[in-house]
Amino acid sequence: MNIIWNKTSGQFHLYNDRISYIIAVAPSGEMTNLYFGKRIHDREDFSYVVFRMGMPNIAVDADTETYSMELNRQEYPSFGTTDFGTSAFEIESENGSRVSSFVYKSHNIFSGKRVISGLPATYAAENEAMTLELEMEDEQTQMTLLLSYTIFEGYPVVARHAEFKNNGSAKVKIIKALSCCVDLPDQDYEMVQFNGAWARERMPVVRRLTGGTTSIESKRGVSSANFNPFFIIKRPNTDDFAGDAYGFSFVYSGNFIAMAEANSYERLRILMGINPERFTWVLNGGETFETPEVVIAHTDQGLNDLSQTYHSLYNNNLVRGKWKNKPRPILNNNWEATFMDFTEESILKIAAKAKEAGVELFVLDDGWFGERNDDFAGLGDWVENPGKLPQGMAGLARKVNALGLQFGFWIEPEMVNPNSNLFRRHPDWVLAVPGRKSSLGRHQLVLDFSREEVVDYIYNMLYKVIDGANISYIKWDMNRSLTEVFSLGCPPEEQGMVYHRYVLGVYSLYTRLIEAFPDILFESCSSGGNRFDAGMLYYAPQAWCSDNTDAIDRLRIQYGTSYGYPIVSIGSHVSAVPNQQTGRSTSISTRANVAYFGTFGYELDLNEIDDKEFEKVKEQIEFMKKHRELIQFGDFFRLRSPFETDQTAWMVVSKDKKKAIVGFYCMRSNVNTLPGFLKLTGLDPDARYRMEDKEYYGDELMNMGITLLEFYKKGFTISEDYASFVTVIDAI
Ligand code: GLA
Repeated sequence: MNIIWNKTSGQFHLYNDRISYIIAVAPSGEMTNLYFGKRIHDREDFSYVVFRMGMPNIAVDADTETYSMELNRQEYPSFGTTDFGTSAFEIESENGSRVSSFVYKSHNIFSGKRVISGLPATYAAENEAMTLELEMEDEQTQMTLLLSYTIFEGYPVVARHAEFKNNGSAKVKIIKALSCCVDLPDQDYEMVQFNGAWARERMPVVRRLTGGTTSIESKRGVSSANFNPFFIIKRPNTDDFAGDAYGFSFVYSGNFIAMAEANSYERLRILMGINPERFTWVLNGGETFETPEVVIAHTDQGLNDLSQTYHSLYNNNLVRGKWKNKPRPILNNNWEATFMDFTEESILKIAAKAKEAGVELFVLDDGWFGERNDDFAGLGDWVENPGKLPQGMAGLARKVNALGLQFGFWIEPEMVNPNSNLFRRHPDWVLAVPGRKSSLGRHQLVLDFSREEVVDYIYNMLYKVIDGANISYIKWDMNRSLTEVFSLGCPPEEQGMVYHRYVLGVYSLYTRLIEAFPDILFESCSSGGNRFDAGMLYYAPQAWCSDNTDAIDRLRIQYGTSYGYPIVSIGSHVSAVPNQQTGRSTSISTRANVAYFGTFGYELDLNEIDDKEFEKVKEQIEFMKKHRELIQFGDFFRLRSPFETDQTAWMVVSKDKKKAIVGFYCMRSNVNTLPGFLKLTGLDPDARYRMEDKEYYGDELMNMGITLLEFYKKGFTISEDYASFVTVIDAI
């Protein structure tokens, strides 16, 4: 890994073993991209790739008269001079002008990486990364722009963000401040995005890119289940196993936009950042605004490799604290078992049975506080309901601990029910437009987390519940999108700052709770996977993937999630059948075979299953305890897509290739067909492996494949709906 500055040509070459990212000071003084892709040799001067061509109807830079931004690749394009594409930023001066042009002033190259204040971001020790900061200047507005690039050792990744500083005394308005722009020199690409909604999150969808813009966004105040803030730009023939692709992952949990724009000159522009819709940041003299980070990756080895890059980088350089790279406790959550209808006694009964099965952590979900007996009341009143928890959270924690289990509970700190003491006391603490009706979502309003006093208040309430109780885990939920976004905490001209300040408020509460209780494992949740993003992983290393716990639907949801997020971050539980969301019944084995590929746990009352199933549950927990390190931190490979055939398969391989686990699932029976073969991947071709009771060479398993007939002997068949098997492969 290194960052070379070629002084005479004004070019910067960031590289490591896998990628090169080459940028230069353009004739206009702004920064231009010369190359981003597989590693290439350095040379003093790559400026032969800069187009200086007079063409009809393009504008050229006033000083050079031959250089047009439109024909070249920009690093952080402005609008208003010679680039007619979508800009990365826009600034309004006091006189109303929105034209600006930041030119190179100086740069700084250093080992490691700086933090972005108040925001989540990847981090790196001095030997893990190098950073280039370019200082750009716009004399007219008296502003500087810092473009930051970090290249990591061992990962084909560049992390980028931007920072604006107002050095003058007049205030300016930032109308738009995206985090990055990557211009590619041709347009033969497809965009893979991850669409969905509640209970069907992160379904991969491929769109062919062509002239004009293709975009995804969120305007819900959260990153959303509708469009995940992660996407891939790939060659049409790239698949999971081979080919070129770029990944873009936004380390942020609020409104975003991601866009690919194909102009008339073969340029493909990729932009990502905070959604400019309803965003205006007032920057007074001396103030700074930092954008969130985008983590950009490149692979020439297919999408499994791209995913593994994000998995490892996020496990090693995004997730922090005690739970970094630690196998996760197997938990039992009472939500689907009891909803809000429980007593301490009924909870302890579920917990006792969970302990008997081998569960390690018991989680008390919604309904323990205030007047919370249904979803019409109580949110905001973070005080134990004495009818349900007679000795408070501390008392229940003690009793659960006495059973030999760790204990954790559910919160939804950003919300308030109109029917709550908090709302009656502070009706002005919600996001609402004075005089206008407020839209409810799940009968609740959103607290104004853009205000410090609101965040403080919630922090103090939660602190009291957690402190003094032995709490190992917290599930932090967020169950509605933001509407009528207006804050009584700021003047009219700052209302455009509220969405972002809200997210900063959420991050600051997380930060305070983590600092106060560093050992607690946080799991984020937002009606399932409505806020499953890299920003959240910085605070909560795992996320409840979906409220849809149906094993067959989960195959698709978890498969889609695996493109951008580590397996260990995917909250996955076995729940009761018929499934509460889909009505589908699958065997206890298939439910576990799916849930293994995530954090693993149970979302049911184990007293309610029969003895035979309970014995199986015990075996499942034993299996997961034995293999979770490999499953959660090994190299994960998607093998067969649940979106293309009736069967799906995935596998994990240990870093030393000595052990692997394969999961195979039949989503829909195929009658009167041959069982077929499944080709494995990622193994050592020359090693000998044992699978079930036979031995094979690695190359045999990867090229000839395993015959599913082997598993027919054990009762598995593809002519049975929802059949599945999981098998362990060991090097001899
Ligand atoms: C959301 C979550 C569920 C559960 C309920 C509790 O829907 O996604 O897992 O915690 O809230 O109200």
